[in-house]
Amino acid sequence: MPCLSVCFVMSSGVIVTGIPDPSPPCIFHLSLYLLPYSLYMGKTMLEQLDETVQFLRKQYTQVPEVGIVLGSGLGNFAAEISVEKEVSYADIPNFPVSTVQGHKGKLVFGTLSGKKVVAMAGRFHFYEGYEAQDVVFPIRVMKLLGIQTLLLSNAAGGVNTSFKVGDIMIITDHISFHTPNPLIGKNIDEFGPRFPDMSEPYKKELISKAKDIAEKNNIHLKQGVYFAVTGPTFETRAEYKMIHVMGGDAVGMSTVQECIIANHMGLPVFAVSIITDIGIREDDNIITHEEVLEAAKNAEPKLAALFKGLIAAI
Ligand code: HPA
Repeated sequence: MPCLSVCFVMSSGVIVTGIPDPSPPCIFHLSLYLLPYSLYMGKTMLEQLDETVQFLRKQYTQVPEVGIVLGSGLGNFAAEISVEKEVSYADIPNFPVSTVQGHKGKLVFGTLSGKKVVAMAGRFHFYEGYEAQDVVFPIRVMKLLGIQTLLLSNAAGGVNTSFKVGDIMIITDHISFHTPNPLIGKNIDEFGPRFPDMSEPYKKELISKAKDIAEKNNIHLKQGVYFAVTGPTFETRAEYKMIHVMGGDAVGMSTVQECIIANHMGLPVFAVSIITDIGIREDDNIITHEEVLEAAKNAEPKLAALFKGLIAAI
């Protein structure tokens, strides 16, 4: 007869089996008895991170200094890197796999502007169905691999009425009440405090360096507040207006969770949005994913010049 015990997870973190089973104990039954919750659920976050980092250190033995996340339509930026090793997400233990068109789904290790970098060609989004902890898992991995600065990029809708398609907006701050905070749950004290300060989520020093580089390279930059939504729908006209009224300059479906986890670990962040569509608009045009990818691709050379200059300067 099969083992029919029901398991209860106690607040102490220990599993006990309930409803005594008249059948002789089976191995499954015994193995569950008094098993720690973490082991019952699989590996702890720290164990998973350790396994992933050990794996990647075998693939690439140098220590990357800068981590880069390439947003929608920006995957070709990886071609700027003098590539030393590429590892497909599908081959990395504990990594989620990206499902979005336009996301290449690999970690690219190499040299850019004389520094060792690791770039995520493709990121994980909450709207794909991943838990917040999965979305930020690679950021923690890159930090454990040794990065000291994180550069984030994304495609975003402009809600600041002075923005145009193709603009690059330096993110100075963000607003997100919609995507779950990735630090919800037991704090991992090894990474940072329970209540991290978020008064400077995007480092002023990096912003100031980026502005100097943009000036030297004749790149016109906007700056503003990134408003995070879950997606995957683009916003209604009323929502774009509300986001503007609430203080957003651009709206997008990524970045904030990654920024939070980096701040928790004391990792300085610089982030930009490529404005790929204008949310607040008079005419009747609709917004499509294809248009977003196209606009991001067109703005890529400006983003590349900015990131390359910044990496050289840090
Ligand atoms: N809204 C949300 N996310 C986006 C948009 C948008 O208009 N454009 C690109 N990503």
